[in-house]
Amino acid sequence: MTRINPGDFGILNGISEVIATTRSESGVPNAAPIGIIRNNGSHSSGDDQICVRLFSGSHTRQNVIETGEIVANTIHDPVIYVESTFDDLDPDMFKYPDNKGCPALKHADAWLLFTCKQSKGNLFDLTPVKGVVCNTPMICVNRGFNAVIESLVHATRYQLKQDPKYLELIRHHAQIIQVCGGTREKTAIIKLKEIMEELS
Ligand SMILES: Cc1cc2nc3c(=O)[nH]c(=O)nc-3n(C[C@H](O)[C@H](O)[C@H](O)COP(=O)(O)O)c2cc1C
Repeated sequence: MTRINPGDFGILNGISEVIATTRSESGVPNAAPIGIIRNNGSHSSGDDQICVRLFSGSHTRQNVIETGEIVANTIHDPVIYVESTFDDLDPDMFKYPDNKGCPALKHADAWLLFTCKQSKGNLFDLTPVKGVVCNTPMICVNRGFNAVIESLVHATRYQLKQDPKYLELIRHHAQIIQVCGGTREKTAIIKLKEIMEELS
């Protein structure tokens, strides 16, 4: 059997911020940004360790414990990152490559299904099972997109700790988004600011 190289799906050495899709035992789909941690020493395949750190309290963690499956969606829409962090995505945004199995996102450029087994504490080991590359867009680094992701990380920390330093960091990144972002990045930060007002 051919070994799956997660690099073919955009998951390289280091931490790849993907949107993870899962489903509950009863079949409810879920999506949330999650970092896939890959340590293969280099960009080549070989001795590969892939895992996720899933903190208590998320649907993602609960679903993975119930079903043992998670899909990593490689996706470049910043608005979907904002929506999936704080809201439930519209059920219409999911697709089911295996009928009732783990969902993937219709807008994903690639998706990769992993089996997922708790190793210790918050760490879960991942084993790639199968995936599909749907589009291969050539995407340059956009500081606005990166700033949306950074803002979201600060927003989730603000939600946990209510420390105003995170609001300041979001303001800093919002300025970068205004200068460097495209329409979707600007829509994403507007949505995030609305969410932050509700959280404050
Ligand atoms: C860029 C980014 C990366 C994240 N990575 C992780 C992660 O690796 N593990 C985790 O437990 N939460 C992570 N989070 C936080 C979850 O996405 C967040 O708690 C989310 O609300 C969980 O949603 P759920 O309850 O639908 O699973 C991350 C958030 C962002 C914005």
